[in-house]
Parts: sequence; C-alpha cells; structure tokens
Amino acid sequence: MRVMSTEAPDAAVPLKDATLAATPPMGWNSWNRFRCYELSEEVVLGIADAMVTSGMRDAGYHYLVVDDCWQAFARDDAGNLASHPKRFPSGMAALGEQIHARGLKFGLYLAPGRKTCAMIYDRYPAREIGSFGHEQRDAQTLAGWGVDYLKYDWCKANRGGTGLDFEGAFERMAGALAETGRPILYSISEYGSSRPWQWAGRYGHLWRTTPDIRARWSSVLKIVDRQHGLAPFAGPGGWNDPDMLEVGNEGLSEIEARSHLMLWALLAAPLMTGNDLRTMSAVTRELLTHPGLISISQDVLGRQGERVARHGSLELWARALSDGVVHGVLNRGSRPTRVELADGVVRAAGRELLRLSGAAVDVFAGRALSAGGEEWQLAPHEMLLLRTSEC
Ligand code: GLA
Repeated sequence: MRVMSTEAPDAAVPLKDATLAATPPMGWNSWNRFRCYELSEEVVLGIADAMVTSGMRDAGYHYLVVDDCWQAFARDDAGNLASHPKRFPSGMAALGEQIHARGLKFGLYLAPGRKTCAMIYDRYPAREIGSFGHEQRDAQTLAGWGVDYLKYDWCKANRGGTGLDFEGAFERMAGALAETGRPILYSISEYGSSRPWQWAGRYGHLWRTTPDIRARWSSVLKIVDRQHGLAPFAGPGGWNDPDMLEVGNEGLSEIEARSHLMLWALLAAPLMTGNDLRTMSAVTRELLTHPGLISISQDVLGRQGERVARHGSLELWARALSDGVVHGVLNRGSRPTRVELADGVVRAAGRELLRLSGAAVDVFAGRALSAGGEEWQLAPHEMLLLRTSEC
C-alpha cells in the first residue's frame, strides 16, 4: 500500500525541470475533437496507433494527452481518482503502458478546485474529482500511472470556499509534482486570466494566454491578436500557449488551417494537435508533419515571433531563428492580393513590405526563391512564409 505524505512540499525540491521543454511541446490532446462524452480508451489507443503510422510521432508529436472526462464520477474509498469504468475499463496505468509501448508519452488532465470544467460546462455528473485538498495524492497517483504531462485547468477553482488564487493553486501542484520525483511536463491553464506569463514560468512549461479556441477563423485571429507583446515572456523551458490546434477539424478551410499552423510556429506555441488522427486527410497529415514548419516551431533559439507591421489587410510577421529569420505575410482581407519579390524587396500593390538578405526559401513550397524574382497570389486568409539565412 502506498503511504501518502501529509507534510508540506519540501522547499529544497526544485519546482521545475526546464529541460523538459527546451522547445515548444508537441503532441495530441483529446479535447478539441472528442470533447467530453466521445472520449474513450478505444479512441485514445486508435489515436496512439495513428500517431505512429501517420508519421506524427516521428515528426516530433510525442505527447498524447487525455483531457477532461477520463475520470470515474467519484473518488474511491481511499480518496484516489480512478478512470471511468465504462469508457476506460482497463484503467489508466494500463493505458499509459500502451502509450509508452508505442514510443509516446502520456498526458492527463486535472483541475485545482472542487470541479473540472466538464462538471461546470458539460454536466459531467461527478463529485469532488477536483484536486483541491488532494494535490499530493493526485500527483502521486499520476506518477504511479506513468504520466509524463499534466494539464492543470483552473475551472473556477476559487469557488466553493477553496480560498485558492491563481498563482497559489498552480504553485501547489508544482510542488506536489516535484515531490513525486517523476519528470512531468506541467501545462498551466487559466486562459490568460491573471497574466500568467508574468508568473507561470516559475512552475510550468506552458501557460495558456487566452480563452478556448474554436475551429473558426475568427477565433484563430482573436487569439492571435491577444499574443501581441507576450514574446519576451517565452523561451526555452517555458512557453506562451495560445491553445491547442484546430487543424483538421471542421470549420477551418485548408488555407485557414495552414495559416493557423504557420502562426503557431511563428509564435513558438506548443503544437498540440486536436483532430482525429485516425481519419485525417493526406492534406492535413502533410501539413501537420511539414518539415519546414516544424523546424520553425522547434528552432533551438526559442525566440517567439511577432507581428511587426500592418499594411491594409496584410500583416507582416517575423521570428528570429538560430540561423536566420522567417518572415510571414498574412492576408487578413477578403480579397486575393498579389505579392511580388524583385531585387530582394517584397512588395504588394507597389508598396515595400520587407527586404530579404541572403538566400531565401518559400517555406511551405519547400523551394529556394529564384534570383530573377517571384510572384504570389495570396488568397483571403492565406499566409506566406519566407525564411532567410541572414538577419
Ligand atoms: C477548459 C479548457 C479546455 C478543456 C476543457 C475541458 O475549457 O480550456 O482546453 O480542457 O476545459 O473541460
């Protein structure tokens, strides 16, 4: 029988192992596509297989995170969390083994208060499955199941007389995780409510900066606009998290999904896919595993990119890389726009947008730009990425 410690976390244990997230974490999370009631062991194992066979794992997507609604409706008699007996009949330790056997890492969802978000928003009929007052017990349970990633999701944790505040709640679990001695990547999720970029890097490897994403272009843009100014807070070991990807989910066009991924790569955002990898199209698979986009996302310098200018409906973006810079031109308008390159100058409608120095490549097309000049027709919502080896 496991003996639970009742002592306060040991102050000498470092709260965070920054090496777990030297570059933005990559993986898959169940929420965006399967939400609460479609989640099951069968889905998760199917996804685990698909991560291997589709090439996602080998492209760098290592974490498979099971979000809310994996839990039984109550703790067991000893006070421990258990998995939902119908939807996860084999239990979480067995699931973790299956995930690890495929060369993947296992992630789970908890919430710091009395309730998880699905209890609040999806009528998940559970009781007291939040981690309030059970932090050390739950951290030990997860470590015992072989969990490698925790998404800790606020969900009004200050309600119900907990007395929790944002930083205090997340610090508490950081201490409990550290005490387990198991390296566990820690995802802090409070939707940007308390400006977490100012404090979350002390405890976590990624922190949500904004409310939940939806598979709509308007949602992608709303989130992107709220990342402005946050670049200085991110870097190797800790990342701003504009939420999980909606690439491959119904609601975004092919072009919008591509721009969404390009923006997340420029933002040095965690790349947590959220689509059904078992049935995704070849176009989605090729996009998600695109070597040029992943190499920008995972650049070792770890500098988050930003919007640097606006020209009408065109936006210019830039991200410094370890061996140069990547520029982005995003057409936010509703009309196609012609973009031209001549003598190292990129122009639209005769107006200079940026100057490229050194050899440049069109990242998505995966080809070097011709010295004789280039021309692109940017569709509405389309983004062009140009990478150069000089700054
Ligand atoms: C919140 C989070 C989502 C997801 C759900 C689960 O809304 O922001 O990412 O985890 O809870 O209930």
